[in-house]
Amino acid sequence: MEFQSCVKIINEWDIVAARQLGRKISKEIGFGTVDQARITTAISELARNIFLYAGTGEICIEKMAEAGKDGLKIVAKDKGPGIKDVRQVMQDGYTTSGGLGAGLPGVKRLMDTFDLVSSVEEGAQGTIITTHKWVR
Ligand SMILES: Nc1ncnc2c1ncn2[C@@H]1O[C@H](COP(=O)(O)OP(=O)(O)OP(=O)(O)O)[C@@H](O)[C@H]1O
Ligand SMILES: [Mg+2]
Repeated sequence: MEFQSCVKIINEWDIVAARQLGRKISKEIGFGTVDQARITTAISELARNIFLYAGTGEICIEKMAEAGKDGLKIVAKDKGPGIKDVRQVMQDGYTTSGGLGAGLPGVKRLMDTFDLVSSVEEGAQGTIITTHKWVR
């Protein structure tokens, strides 16, 4: 781990703070403006989902350097109700809140990797989404 910075998501302003942190770090890593926009959009969607569905959680952003490749890792975690059917929530248009249902499929498209682990089991509830992007 080279560098990691986290923002707790408790209220709507924290979504903005997470977005700004993502912008700053992606700039430092050397992402172009289009990729910076992709990354900040992905962070906003993940932070907004935490706020809406879990209430509170955390977004951590990490600089990555692997075999000469520079990149960024985002981890969004919460101890909310969890997601019962991961395949279903990854479908475009699936929403339980009257949203567009575009958030999670969008994050997957905007980033290079996407991994969702979630549990609805009593006592172990919550969701962890890990996603990476590499500078090209
Ligand atoms: N962290 C989370 N915890 C529990 N459920 C979640 C979480 N994130 C997403 N979900 C569930 O997955 C569904 C799909 O999420 P997604 O972000 O793709 O769409 P949306 O939030 O409904 O709409 P949009 O993001 O387009 O405004 C949500 O409606 C919600 O039911
Ligand atoms: Mg959403």
